[in-house]
Amino acid sequence: MTTVAKIPRDAPAMLSEFDVEKVRRDFPILDQKVHGKPLVYLDNAATTQKPLAVIEAIEHYYRHDNSNIHRGVHALSERATESYENSRAAVQRFLNAADPREIVFTRGTTEAINLVAQTYGRKHVGAGDEVLITAMEHHSNIVPWQILCEEKGARLRVAPINDRGELLVEDFEKFLGPKTRLAAVSHLSNALGTINPVRDLVHMAHARGIPVLVDGAQAAPRMAVDVQDLDCDFYAISGHKMYAPTGIGVLYGKAELLEAMPPYQGGGDMIASVTFEKTVYNRLPYKFEAGTPNIADTIALGAAIEYLEQLGLEQVERHEHDLLAYATEAVESIPGLTIVGTAGEKAGVLSFTMGDIHPHDIGTILDREGIAVRTGHHCAQPVMQRFQIPATVRASFGLYNTRQEVDALVAGIHKVNEVLG
Ligand SMILES: Cc1ncc(COP(=O)(O)O)c(C=O)c1O
Repeated sequence: MTTVAKIPRDAPAMLSEFDVEKVRRDFPILDQKVHGKPLVYLDNAATTQKPLAVIEAIEHYYRHDNSNIHRGVHALSERATESYENSRAAVQRFLNAADPREIVFTRGTTEAINLVAQTYGRKHVGAGDEVLITAMEHHSNIVPWQILCEEKGARLRVAPINDRGELLVEDFEKFLGPKTRLAAVSHLSNALGTINPVRDLVHMAHARGIPVLVDGAQAAPRMAVDVQDLDCDFYAISGHKMYAPTGIGVLYGKAELLEAMPPYQGGGDMIASVTFEKTVYNRLPYKFEAGTPNIADTIALGAAIEYLEQLGLEQVERHEHDLLAYATEAVESIPGLTIVGTAGEKAGVLSFTMGDIHPHDIGTILDREGIAVRTGHHCAQPVMQRFQIPATVRASFGLYNTRQEVDALVAGIHKVNEVLG
């Protein structure tokens, strides 16, 4: 049983203000058949599709403005620089950061977390110290800390989760000790859908003077994020999971922390002056943006944010909640199906197993029905170990999914039972 709010299957979809059919027309890729069936794209936690506004932003940039930024005096360079910095302002608004200097562009969440591990981490974590994570982390919020701890002789501690996939908050608090130098937690688990009480966790850590990094890869596309309200020290996101291109992401960091951190990579743009004797680093955020950045995709990230702002994150959140509740209720009655991850606070992700049927086989049969889901460990092998399963099938929702698509998923799962059950 899950506590995702029950929505009767015959209840009208609560989409009066949110016109999903109109939204779908913004995503040309959705209008296609796969194996002769209409595409049902339910792999949004892996990557989302891109609206026309994003596709056109990339095309516009390469057709009209392509140029290197920050150093040109000519018109194209000025236009490219302005669009690039407008995207930073959009991200600042989106995360409600206090200052654009706190927005560092990276390749994605993975690079953002590695940046913190390799700069803040290497500076502050020493032999015998501890870094605290949770048992539901994605590999990209585990391995960078393991690498750091190995190098420094520090210890990685892991706060456990219960059988519903919820963090044991009291254990998390207990693990925040005098040796803890940093806590790193996901906002929304990609494997389970669990939403962590990040604000409370930050409060607990700060009471002991411990900074907190939040992995926001799955939360940012699904809920309004306010880094000042969360009071987190770092927040990492990936553009491609929020309707923007691959290869662009963001590290938010509190300015005073970023100021005090050593640079991540050395090279052009991150310097104020260079002699063979000494380099003076650039001001924030450029100190952390060495080399020519991914200009086109950064600009397209700005377009994705404007698109999300126009739809309204609250509307998106409500729509996805409706889909998750509708899907949860529908699959619960399927014989042999077990939902993995039944947290009270949950969003976007429906992971499940079906007895002895291998998730890969389920995914293959669903694909023949035109339904794209993910099967495997979802880059969260310790979560699979916790639940003693090799893998799950994961349907993950995006703002363009519909109840009809959930119905198609359910019909597909019944087909799996017919063929393999
Ligand atoms: C919770 C979570 N964190 C981090 C990542 C890594 O994101 P990226 O591969 O975009 O760097 C993912 C990707 O699936 C994720 O779901």
